[in-house]
Amino acid sequence: EKGGFRSFMDKEIHDQPHAVADTLLGRTDVRGRLVLDEVRISEDVLRAVDKIVVVACGTAAYAGHVAKYAIEHWCRVPVEVELAHEFRYRDPVVNARTLVVAISQSGETMDTLMAVRHAREQGATALAIVNTHGSTIPRESDAVLYTHAGPEIAVASTKAFLAQITATYLLGLYLAQLRGNMFADEVETILAELRAMPDKIQTVLDRSARVQEIARWMADTPSVLFLGRHVGYPVALEGALKLKELAYIHAEGFAAGELKHGPIALVEPGQPVFVVVPSPRGRHSLHAKVVSNIQEIRARGARTIVIAEDGDEAVVPFADEVFRVPQAPTLLAPLLSVVPLQVFACELATAKGLDVDQPRNLAKSVTVE
Ligand code: M6R
Repeated sequence: EKGGFRSFMDKEIHDQPHAVADTLLGRTDVRGRLVLDEVRISEDVLRAVDKIVVVACGTAAYAGHVAKYAIEHWCRVPVEVELAHEFRYRDPVVNARTLVVAISQSGETMDTLMAVRHAREQGATALAIVNTHGSTIPRESDAVLYTHAGPEIAVASTKAFLAQITATYLLGLYLAQLRGNMFADEVETILAELRAMPDKIQTVLDRSARVQEIARWMADTPSVLFLGRHVGYPVALEGALKLKELAYIHAEGFAAGELKHGPIALVEPGQPVFVVVPSPRGRHSLHAKVVSNIQEIRARGARTIVIAEDGDEAVVPFADEVFRVPQAPTLLAPLLSVVPLQVFACELATAKGLDVDQPRNLAKSVTVE
C-alpha cells in the first residue's frame, strides 16, 4: 500500500502533483467560470464579507498564511490568519460580515472545530477547507471546499498542505470573480498557471536526489534555520516544522527581513541555513533583498542552502548549495519551494533511523484540546 515507497510520507510527497491536479479538477463551468459547488453560502453574503479570518493549526495554519498573500492581493479583503487555539480564547472581533475559513486535513482538530463554533455563535459564516469527507468540521460549517489530496496516512502533513494552498487559491479567485475584483480572463490566466503546477512539482521531485544526498550528510546537525520572505516566509516555517517533527532537530523559521532584528545573532560558522529565494521577476525587489541576506549570513560563516528558481544566477556566489525549482508566478511558488524542504526532512529522519510516518509524541489528528 506504500506503492513501493519506503514510507507513507515518501509516497505522499510523491503524490503531490496529483493532489494539486485533483484539487483543481472540475471547478469550472462550461463557460470556463469558476464554480465551487460545495460552497452553499449565498452570493450576497460573500459579496458583503469585509474580513476573512483563517483558523487552523500546524501545517494547515501555514497554508492559511500563504493564502493571506494571495487573497488580499486578488480580493482586496483583509485576511487574518490565526492559530485556532489562540483565536477562540481571545474574544475575537467577528460578526455577520466575517468569513471564517477553517483549514484542516482531518476535519477533526478540536481547536479548529471550537474556533468554528465560536465564530458562528458570533454570527460569522464558516467555510471549511478539509480533506476528509464526512468529518466533523465540514458538518459544523456553512459550506465546504474539499481538498482532493486522497487519504494522508503519515503524521506529517505534506500533500494535504499543497492541496490546501490550491483550495484557498480557488476560493480567492472565486471571491475575486464574484466581487468584481477580477475579470474572467484574469481569473482564467491564473487558473492556467495553477494547472501548470503539477508538472512543475513533478520536476522538483525528479530533482530530489541531491536534496537527499545533502540530508544524509547533515544527519548529525544539531540545528537548522530557515529563512523566507513574502510567501516564502510560511514556507520557511513549514520547513522548520517538518524537520522538528520528523528528525527531532531544533529548527526555526524566520521572516528574512527579521534577520537583523535578532535571529542573525544565532549565525555562527557552520550553521546550516535554508533560504527560500523569491523570484527575480517578482515585484518590490524582494529578490535582491533576500540575496543580500544570504550574503550577510554567509559572511558570518553560515552554510547556505538556497532554494531558487531556474535561471536565478544571482544566488550562486553566496550559496553552498542550490536546489532549483522551475519558474512560477510569485504567489504560486510555495507549491514548489516547500517540496525540497519536505524531502529534506523525510530523508534526514530516515537517515537517522527514525519512523517518519509515526514521529514520537505526535498523533495524526489532535482531537483533544
Ligand atoms: O488535521 P489538521 O489539518 O487540522 O491538523 C492540523 C495539525 O495538527 C497538523 O497540520 C500538524 O501540524 C501536522 N503534524 C504537521 O505535519
